[in-house]
Amino acid sequence: MINTAGVLCHFTPAMRYMQFTHGEQNQKWSTPIVLPVKRSPLIERCTTVEDSRSARAALGVELARSAGEIARRWFDTSALAVESKQDGSPVTQADREIEQFIRAEVAQHYPDDSFLGEEFGETTGTSKYRWIVDPIDGTKSFVHGVPLYANLIALEEDGTIVAGVINLPSAEVLMHAERGKGCWKNGKQVHVSDKTELDGAYVMATWLEDWHPDSIVDLQSAGAVIRTWGDAYGYMMVASGQAEAIVDYTTQAYDLAPMPVIIEEAGGMFTSLDGVREINGGNGIASNGAVHDSVLKIVNQG
Ligand code: IPD
Ligand code: CA
Ligand code: CA
Repeated sequence: MINTAGVLCHFTPAMRYMQFTHGEQNQKWSTPIVLPVKRSPLIERCTTVEDSRSARAALGVELARSAGEIARRWFDTSALAVESKQDGSPVTQADREIEQFIRAEVAQHYPDDSFLGEEFGETTGTSKYRWIVDPIDGTKSFVHGVPLYANLIALEEDGTIVAGVINLPSAEVLMHAERGKGCWKNGKQVHVSDKTELDGAYVMATWLEDWHPDSIVDLQSAGAVIRTWGDAYGYMMVASGQAEAIVDYTTQAYDLAPMPVIIEEAGGMFTSLDGVREINGGNGIASNGAVHDSVLKIVNQG
């Protein structure tokens, strides 16, 4: 498309989607109309190997970027309506709109793949791939104007997470990893810290309400610094060596789906609080590996 200045314009999938679903900025959200989108050059290149894992991984990165564009459009606007879900957690138009956008894109590119999303549940396909999406992780941050919310996309192949993306659009950080190809933050490869002691280690929590008070005391007695820079942002900090561990006592698969590949490709360790390498345990811990057992031992008491 050529704009009025005669410059070649490229509409990303999210821009085209928003153009047809919103019209003017801040217009009240309504049921999205999903129109076919033009593939970007990145996707065109990738789909020459249509069925490969890497093509899907690249699509995941592009969709996370596009999800971020939708989120930023809604972030910190008074037009955002917040509702409570049955579990009491907040949900917004942005959560639903982003998930519907990603679902439509995945269905268009890979109609045989399965899909699990926080807001619209499970769709079962026939291929060996499943996409797992949390459209906005950290919705409480999102609705309070805190830029530490994220768009999470993960790709599972035969039951194993093989690619993942954490995109923090308002913080302008995107982290992605594919099995065997390293963990990358804004284009730079990252690694977990090499700290081996709890003394001085940073341990993240999304919230402390479900922590046993003795665990907090014992971590602090061991010299650890506890901070609530949580949700996906905390996992990103661990992967990039800015913190040593994050502990989540209450999670669903979509809260954690990108973390195994992100953390492991950065050289760290991800497990449930039972020490099992899985995202379905109802909780999770990620660390630099060196402090994993000592943090697990302390947080599992009580
Ligand atoms: C939350 C985050 C957080 C976890 C909460 C989730 P949401 O997700 O994933 O890390 O501890 O239990 O609800 O609701 O902001 O997508
Ligand atoms: Ca969410
Ligand atoms: Ca979440």
